[in-house]
Amino acid sequence: MKRMFRILVDMILLVFIWVSISMASNGRDIFINKCGSCHQENGDVKAFAPSKYASTQWRRFFHRDKHKRKKDISDLFTETEIKNVSEYLIRHAADSDQPEAVGLK
Ligand code: HEC
Repeated sequence: MKRMFRILVDMILLVFIWVSISMASNGRDIFINKCGSCHQENGDVKAFAPSKYASTQWRRFFHRDKHKRKKDISDLFTETEIKNVSEYLIRHAADSDQPEAVGLK
């Protein structure tokens, strides 16, 4: 009985880890594919990497919906997508413990 309980706990833990990993990659995928559909190295709209800004700057950017002043993209992204992208950018911001300097191309 104890053993069954242990297996159950392990399975729940695995699902939890899997969900958090897929959510993280989801944020990255949205960033690369959707933000990257406009932001491109050789385009009019410049490419950037998460480490372009510090975490507080990203937080402010999303919290105050600053993109709206550049271009309204609210029709192109769901609330969850914006949430996942912002979490991804904050997790890899300049002052994070995993700064990501490689970004859009
Ligand atoms: C429909 C096209 C489009 C999409 C999609 C888009 N942007 Fe932009 N973005 C723009 C334009 C246009 C500007 C203003 C021109 C510029 O600054 O290069 C801009 C400016 C910015 C800026 C400020 C300038 C800079 O490079 O620091 C940031 C930050 C930014 N966008 C982030 C994002 C993020 C994050 C996403 C995805 C959630 C995104 N954008 C999706 C068109 C887009």
